[in-house]
Amino acid sequence: MMYWHAASWVAALAVLGSVVLGNPSATIPRQAGLPIPASCPGVTATSRYTLAAAEGWRYTLLATGLTKPRGLIFDTEGHLLVLEAGKGLTAHTLGSNGCISSSRVVISMAQLNHGLALSADGKTVYVSSSPTAWSYAYDATTMTATNQTVIVKGMNPGGHNSRTLAVSPKNPNLLLVSLGSNGNIDGPAVVKETGRAIVKVFDLSQVPAGGYTYNTQGWYLGYGLRNEIALVFDGNSMVWGVENSGDDLTRVAAGGGKSVDVHIDNPAEELNYLGDPSVSNEKWYGYPTCWTVGDPSVIKDKTFKVGQQFMISPNTTFDDASCAAKSTPPRLAIKAHSAPIDGKFDKDYSNMYVSLHGSWNRQPATGYKVIQIPFRKLKSGDYDPVAPQDSGTGYSDVLWTQNEGSCSSSSCLRPTGVLFHPDYSRMYVASDGSIGELYILYKA
Ligand SMILES: *[C@@H]1O[C@H](CO)[C@@H](O)[C@H](O)[C@H]1NC(C)=O
Ligand SMILES: *[C@@H]1O[C@H](CO)[C@@H](O)[C@H](O)[C@H]1NC(C)=O
Repeated sequence: MMYWHAASWVAALAVLGSVVLGNPSATIPRQAGLPIPASCPGVTATSRYTLAAAEGWRYTLLATGLTKPRGLIFDTEGHLLVLEAGKGLTAHTLGSNGCISSSRVVISMAQLNHGLALSADGKTVYVSSSPTAWSYAYDATTMTATNQTVIVKGMNPGGHNSRTLAVSPKNPNLLLVSLGSNGNIDGPAVVKETGRAIVKVFDLSQVPAGGYTYNTQGWYLGYGLRNEIALVFDGNSMVWGVENSGDDLTRVAAGGGKSVDVHIDNPAEELNYLGDPSVSNEKWYGYPTCWTVGDPSVIKDKTFKVGQQFMISPNTTFDDASCAAKSTPPRLAIKAHSAPIDGKFDKDYSNMYVSLHGSWNRQPATGYKVIQIPFRKLKSGDYDPVAPQDSGTGYSDVLWTQNEGSCSSSSCLRPTGVLFHPDYSRMYVASDGSIGELYILYKA
């Protein structure tokens, strides 16, 4: 059955309270600005899964039938730009009811697969394929892009192939480009000059003719980062990375012995503090040697806390203590195999919202949801998660698939891009699963 269970759809509508059943354009009134639609005309759920939202939150399906939507951003005219992997860049006009009233293709290019960023003035759009990042002159009035120019070239074409792009709000001449590892355990990537498992920063005001070469130019925003897909700016324009960590890990105690499967809850996915992109950060975050403990109980040869780092096979020259001395551990551990894709802070930087694409290497499955990580501002002025570093539970679910444990990539929500509306009245959530949806998620 390819439709939502009617009962759960009605239940979802019932939760929406003020909805007038039978009136598809009924909206929940807001004090000002764009209304929040409770449903959108002609948009019907065709997924077989049922979503649920945390108390105080609601969601509305805005669109289906997009081609693997990934990056989301608003242009200066309030159009929602969506990077559709394998298709290109599309622009979506929001009608006065808050639903999508029209859509157009801005860039038709099958190689585009994830990255999307806009310059501070909104006049340049950045998009990426696996090996290349380009800029285009962008006209928000006509939603057209012209003058394709290579900004970064020569990125590793294999392995993890999304290239997250982000423009620093505080230093709008800085473009961040994340590049993951070539595989699960990419040995050579322990050296940052390999140009993998790193985040790099490039000065947009000095792009050389033909573009920067990824491996040899620009500067670092950390290395030993297996696949830092989500790059998130806090209120000081400092960067947080959310990392997709390894699969199928085992542990052999120091001195040898039996290999123990620890992979169900290890290694944890990571929330890493990468810091100020205007200066080179050459800290090593551990990959591919030091992995973050998610569940210490299955590593029986040694006592760990959640969030500390362990080796698969400690030896006489490098062991878990070497990890503690040399690697920068994550600020927060996130459940293993959740697959974080994107993140955004709310208006006052008191929460970071992160999309978890969902696991393939864990039974029962996990992820397939959007989480909220509470943050606070320290006396120093820095932003920091509320939960301590050894908390494995420093976040909560906001929007999730009800049968999370039995989810597969084709049968559940696959959240990718998350983006607040410019007035922070709602969050847009893309899902690149079987039906390519766009939702709004909002407090009500
Ligand atoms: C195209 O972009 C390049 C690089 O930003 C710039 O030097 C050039 O002037 C632009 N060409 C046009 C026709 O706008
Ligand atoms: C110990 O492990 C480290 C880190 O993986 C590696 O670089 C080193 O070659 C290993 N040493 C021995 C003696 O196996």
